[in-house]
Amino acid sequence: MGRSIVITSGKGGTGKSMFAANIGALLAMRGNRVVLVDTDMGLRNLDLYLGLENRVVYNTMDVLSGVCRIQQALVKDKRFKCLYLMAAAPSKDDRDITPLHMVVLVEKLKEMFDYVIIDSAAGIGDELVLAAAGADQAVIITEAENASIRDADSVDRELTKMGITKRCCVLNKVNAELMAVGAVPSLADISRELRIKINGIIQYDNNVFIATNKGVPIVLKVGTYIEKNFSKILDRILADGENG
Ligand SMILES: Nc1ncnc2c1ncn2[C@@H]1O[C@H](COP(=O)(O)OP(=O)(O)OP(=O)(O)O)[C@@H](O)[C@H]1O
Ligand SMILES: [Mg+2]
Repeated sequence: MGRSIVITSGKGGTGKSMFAANIGALLAMRGNRVVLVDTDMGLRNLDLYLGLENRVVYNTMDVLSGVCRIQQALVKDKRFKCLYLMAAAPSKDDRDITPLHMVVLVEKLKEMFDYVIIDSAAGIGDELVLAAAGADQAVIITEAENASIRDADSVDRELTKMGITKRCCVLNKVNAELMAVGAVPSLADISRELRIKINGIIQYDNNVFIATNKGVPIVLKVGTYIEKNFSKILDRILADGENG
C-alpha cells in the first residue's frame, strides 16, 4: 500500500507545484512508482512544469465524477520508468464532488503506486479540504515572509482539524542575504511562529524558475546543490511519514 502526501500553502505562488514536480521526479528516480495528482482546478500548472501539457486528455475531475477510468487520466512521463500525472481540470466546475470521492480515489491510487503526491490549490477553502481528504501526510510550502508564514499557520490549523497529524513545512524562495541582515524573518522567528517542524530550506534560484518554464524538473540535474538539497528534504519528509 502506497503513501499519500499533499503539498499545500496558505498564500499562492509559494512553490507548491514546483516542489510536487520535483519530489515526484526524485521518488521516481529512486525506483518508486509515483503519481502526481493536480487538484488545483482551473489554475493547473503541474502539467506545464513536467512538460506534459500536450498529452493531457482526461483530468482529476473527470475521474472523480466518473467520466473516465483512472487509467485513462494517467499521463506517463517518458523520462522516468514510473512517473504519472493526473492533471487538474482546465476550468473550475461545479460537478458535485465531495471529499469522500477524493478519499476513494486516493485509496485506489495507493494500491497502484508507492507514492501519491497531491498538488493543492492555495488557501483554506473547500479546495484544501478536497485536496487533503485522502492524505496521510502534509507538506506546507511557505516563503520566509510574514504574510506567507501566518497563512501557512492557518493551513496548518485546518489540516489539524482534518486529523492530519504528520505535517511539516518547507521554506522556499529564501534569500539568504536578506535573512542575514534581518530584513525578513529569521529561521528562529519562523520556528517560533509555526507549530510544525521546518523540514527544508530552498533558496530563490533562477535555475528553478527557468526549469519550471522549460517543463523539466530541476532534480534531473543530478549532483547539483539543488538536487542534493531536494533529496535531503525528501528523506526528512519520508522519515517523518514513517515515524509519525
Ligand atoms: N526556489 C525558487 N527559486 C526561483 N523561482 C521559484 C522557486 N520556487 C518556485 N519558483 C517559481 O515561482 C513561481 C510559482 O511557483 P509554483 O507555481 O510552483 O507555486 P504554487 O505555490 O504552485 O502557485 P499556486 O498557488 O498558483 O498554485 C514559478 O514561476 C516557479 O518557477
Ligand atoms: Mg500550483
